[in-house]
Amino acid sequence: MEVTRGKFITLEGGEGAGKSTQTKRLAEFLRRHGYEVIQTREVGGPPSAEEIRELWLSKGEDYWDPLTEVVLISAARREHLTKTIWPALDRGAWVVSDRFVDSTRAYQGIGLGVGLEMIDKFYNLIAPKFEPDLTLLLDMPVEGGLERMVNRGGQDDRYEQKDVNFHETLRAAYLTLAKKYASRMIVINGNQNPEAVQKEIGQAVSKRFGMTV
Ligand code: TMP
Repeated sequence: MEVTRGKFITLEGGEGAGKSTQTKRLAEFLRRHGYEVIQTREVGGPPSAEEIRELWLSKGEDYWDPLTEVVLISAARREHLTKTIWPALDRGAWVVSDRFVDSTRAYQGIGLGVGLEMIDKFYNLIAPKFEPDLTLLLDMPVEGGLERMVNRGGQDDRYEQKDVNFHETLRAAYLTLAKKYASRMIVINGNQNPEAVQKEIGQAVSKRFGMTV
């Protein structure tokens, strides 16, 4: 019997936009609809990719050359695709990922000035003709996101320490990407309570894939 390939949904946004919570809730929502769901994240996923994440993020802000960052992230992404994402989609499971290639486009491509063409060159090498079926961009004002991040405490990633201008650039970069990839990217208002964001996401996903909320 032929298996229907699963769908690949990614969540994107700046720091403190609530992606992790919403990724978890979306995975639960899809499971309630009867799908097998793999909840994952980038940079990371399988142990090999998590090791690269640790190597990359454990260093200080200017340790890596920006293009080297793209090389490391691309290597981790290839591990993630070949070991987790593609096998899951092939057996009919749905995959929900907290970040994917649009993060590299926004952070390294635009934020660090590597350029979108260079990001796409690396991406096309590791994943020719493959893009998410749907990308949910959790958009919110920079101040609000940074405030949430401070309140959350815990991990102190180096991008979280960058100044407000960097985060404004990121937000604008994501909104530009949402226009460029309008057929797969939906902008969600992240500046609401988690239940309201969850509802907006549920409606967007249901509409896109034809399921009841
Ligand atoms: P996280 O906080 O969502 O786990 O992500 C860790 C950091 O990695 C976050 O600051 C965003 C950054 N990042 C990039 O710079 N480029 C990428 O391609 C990805 C996936 C994440």
